[in-house]
Amino acid sequence: MTGVTIDDADDLEGLARAGRVVADVRDAVLAEVAPGVTTAELDALAGQLLRGSGARSAPRLAYGFPGNTCISVNDEAAHGIPSPLRRLRSGDLVNVDVSAELGGYWADTGASAPVGTVGPRAVELLEATRAAQREAMAVARAGAPLRHIGRAVQRRARRHGFTVIENLCGHGVGRSIHEEPSVPGVEDRRDRTVLWEGLVLAIEPFLAMGARWAVTDRDGWTLRTDDGGLAAQYEHTVVVTDGEPLVLTAAA
Ligand code: CO
Ligand code: CO
Repeated sequence: MTGVTIDDADDLEGLARAGRVVADVRDAVLAEVAPGVTTAELDALAGQLLRGSGARSAPRLAYGFPGNTCISVNDEAAHGIPSPLRRLRSGDLVNVDVSAELGGYWADTGASAPVGTVGPRAVELLEATRAAQREAMAVARAGAPLRHIGRAVQRRARRHGFTVIENLCGHGVGRSIHEEPSVPGVEDRRDRTVLWEGLVLAIEPFLAMGARWAVTDRDGWTLRTDDGGLAAQYEHTVVVTDGEPLVLTAAA
């Protein structure tokens, strides 16, 4: 399967609704991020909001993940399990990744944020990752090589002395949560994939202080940087066009 191609107004409307829900949940959860809050409390809010919108948690539905959302702290790059034992502290970096199915359409978004006061290098990591995500979206247009997305991410990371986590990739999305093509955060010069109009992608670079690899924790889910350093991620679901992509998970 080569990803969802949006070719009618119904598809676009359905995907836009799913995108709106996950973006609103992401931002509502991020607004509650503070020292002393547990990741289980954040996840409970997400679950309540998803249910209220008629949406279903994608990681739970597709993979049996033990949470409504993935909430990853510090060296956890992705797929962190929400826990009542995980209380956020000032100085932490937290990532909230919200993906859901609504009416047969799937959308995926994520963002990292500081908890209380974080160090200057952590602030730079957040800013660089956000910029990498934006610059990756800017090169995602019909007719352009897919590998230019990874190239844009790598350039931004290098400029700040950060690394890209190479085994965590963006992906096609729309009719299921993970579809072809894979969207690497580094450039694969052998890749010949060319983007096309209507292709739906989740673009999600992961930058780190020095790690190029994420490894699975003993819990079987959590992906941690292999050097224990901080990681950050931003993710949007977009529709490729012949100009700027249509961002379905932008802030309201
Ligand atoms: Co995601
Ligand atoms: Co994703």
